[in-house]
Amino acid sequence: MDAPLIPANLYDCPVVESRPVGAYRLLSLVAREVASLARPGQFMMVRAAGQSLDPLLPRPICVHEIDSDLVKVLIEPVGRGTVSLADLRVGDRLSVLGPLGNGFDITASGPALVVGGGIGAAPLAFLARALAERGREVRCLLGFRTRGQAVAGKLFRDVEVDIFTEDGSMGKQGLISEPLPGCLAEMGSGPRGEGADSSGQEGAEIFACGPDPMLAAVTRVARDCGAPAQLSVAAHMACGVGACQGCVINTTSGYRRVCSEGPVFAAGEIAW
Ligand SMILES: Cc1cc2nc3c(=O)[nH]c(=O)nc-3n(C[C@H](O)[C@H](O)[C@H](O)COP(=O)(O)OP(=O)(O)OC[C@H]3O[C@@H](n4cnc5c(N)ncnc54)[C@H](O)[C@@H]3O)c2cc1C
Ligand code: FES
Repeated sequence: MDAPLIPANLYDCPVVESRPVGAYRLLSLVAREVASLARPGQFMMVRAAGQSLDPLLPRPICVHEIDSDLVKVLIEPVGRGTVSLADLRVGDRLSVLGPLGNGFDITASGPALVVGGGIGAAPLAFLARALAERGREVRCLLGFRTRGQAVAGKLFRDVEVDIFTEDGSMGKQGLISEPLPGCLAEMGSGPRGEGADSSGQEGAEIFACGPDPMLAAVTRVARDCGAPAQLSVAAHMACGVGACQGCVINTTSGYRRVCSEGPVFAAGEIAW
């Protein structure tokens, strides 16, 4: 059945915290309804309220964390929409439609390997916390270009986090896909056919968000290690609620809308 066109309400939310986190900006919004409803991996369509109509369309921004009535978002200013969001200060207001999308399915019980690349790390702090609260073993691998982005790894609390940078300026040097097979093996998933599951324990499940090349690499490693993987994919969005078809991606079951049928898909579903 098709998702309803307006699955969530529109809220006017005051900004109560605005601070730089390296190259990113962390905003805290009072958004009681979104805070009570949001699941890890869901997003909102967001624009600065009461500003000029430039840019006209809201931008998809995921829920970074929830703290009581507060929804936290992490913004990477890359263009007009995100720069206008990163310019917001305490007392400014945001128009928020959400929570939207399916989010990650965290109901399994085995260990979880959480993998983020760049601003793709934004939804994973909430996810990692939710997985840990379910009693799952959680390990995070976060990859960034350089230290300016990598300091966002400090926003992850109470879970084991390994940081990688391409230039070696923080954490270990290298791409996130390189340590992945070794981590999976340590967590109980081995290369296909080597049966890491002799104890009968569930192997690790991968949860990933980041740029397409990283997600394609994660898909290859997951396939080789026989590990299930859920991927949160990015797409340009106009409506965010399934109405405009502007966000479709090609999957093994045809074209699917990232906003209303995703943004989270099983790794094997995506036709890279
Ligand atoms: C479900 C979802 C959740 C997201 N969560 C966050 C978040 O928490 N924080 C955050 O900072 N960003 C997030 N993004 C990305 C953010 O929505 C885009 O960066 C933003 O829409 C770009 O708008 P702009 O006007 O700033 O830049 P534009 O001027 O529209 O684009 C600037 C540059 O970024 C590229 N770009 C724009 N959108 C995307 C995209 N979706 N994927 C890849 N490249 C893109 C453009 O091609 C261009 O090169 C998310 C995207 C999705 C789909
Ligand atoms: S953004 Fe309109 S259908 Fe997805």
